[in-house]
Amino acid sequence: MLNSASARAHTNIALAKYWGKRDEELIIPMNSSLSLTLDHFYTDTQVTFDDSLTADFFELDNRILPATKLTPFLDLVRQKAGIKTFAAVKSFNHVPNQAGLASSASAYAALAAAASKAAGLELTRPELSRLARRGSGSASRSIYGGFVEWQEGHDDLTSVAVPIEEETDWKIGMLAIILNAGVKKIASRAGMQHVVKTSPYYPAWVKESQADIDALKQAIANRDFTQLGEISESNALRMHALNLAARPPFSYFEASTIRAITMIEELRAQGVSCYYTMDAGPNVKVLCQEEDLPTIKAYLAPAFGTENLLFARPGQGVKFLEGD
Ligand code: DP6
Repeated sequence: MLNSASARAHTNIALAKYWGKRDEELIIPMNSSLSLTLDHFYTDTQVTFDDSLTADFFELDNRILPATKLTPFLDLVRQKAGIKTFAAVKSFNHVPNQAGLASSASAYAALAAAASKAAGLELTRPELSRLARRGSGSASRSIYGGFVEWQEGHDDLTSVAVPIEEETDWKIGMLAIILNAGVKKIASRAGMQHVVKTSPYYPAWVKESQADIDALKQAIANRDFTQLGEISESNALRMHALNLAARPPFSYFEASTIRAITMIEELRAQGVSCYYTMDAGPNVKVLCQEEDLPTIKAYLAPAFGTENLLFARPGQGVKFLEGD
């Protein structure tokens, strides 16, 4: 066989975070999460199942990388499709790699769509979400655009993302402050595993998470930006508090992270409505309304440089690209 398909998926940033697994193999999370898919950061992936290949092949941004990392995921697709053919995967990441901008979310969402189509499967979006989840939990949410909830579920069938508001007319977005675009020190997989095992705050985290999701949904329905921001910021800080309370402790914060957070707080004290969130890396993402963007950028630019301030609006779900 020689079958090819391409797909584009956007990254998403969680407003209520996923941080811990109940099942490591199936990637079933300890709690549901809620995210916003962004338009500016995405991954394009082409998958070709080709009988002439003697092993899987992986190229990222024109660099050949070991395909062994992707093989378990491709095996899942092959198993579903009943084929044994190896695949060539070519990806272009329009996301600063592993800098806490959740590149694994767009990567596995695009891979799930392209690989399943190239293998001859016609998966529904819930099926795509479940497949993407097996690559990386947060990827389950990138199948959909706008606000998305990944419902924790209890098994492979029920742990799936659902759209809350796919095409939102709310003029909000995220301003990513790129403080360090290097590879993160502790991969999210290892970080969350360590926290589940050792952080005494973990049960409290799980207990609070559903209340955060309910409040975020209410904020979205009522277009209540203050509530959206306050809950998101508090949820992110609680996730990072888990890390500080782990044994041994760890943190994704860098000195510049604290500086950025302090400046957001200063802006807020001046009456500008903006809130921050952070993931498994030092970069800070500012949740804001479009009307406040010029003020926020002008305040942050002298400290971090205009080129390190990347704004993204709500983005779309996964889509297939023409040409294959
Ligand atoms: C902090 O989805 O990268 O961004 O499932 O192990 O691949 P794996 O983890 P991943 O973790 C994302 C963690 C987070 C929060 C979030 O996106 O919900």
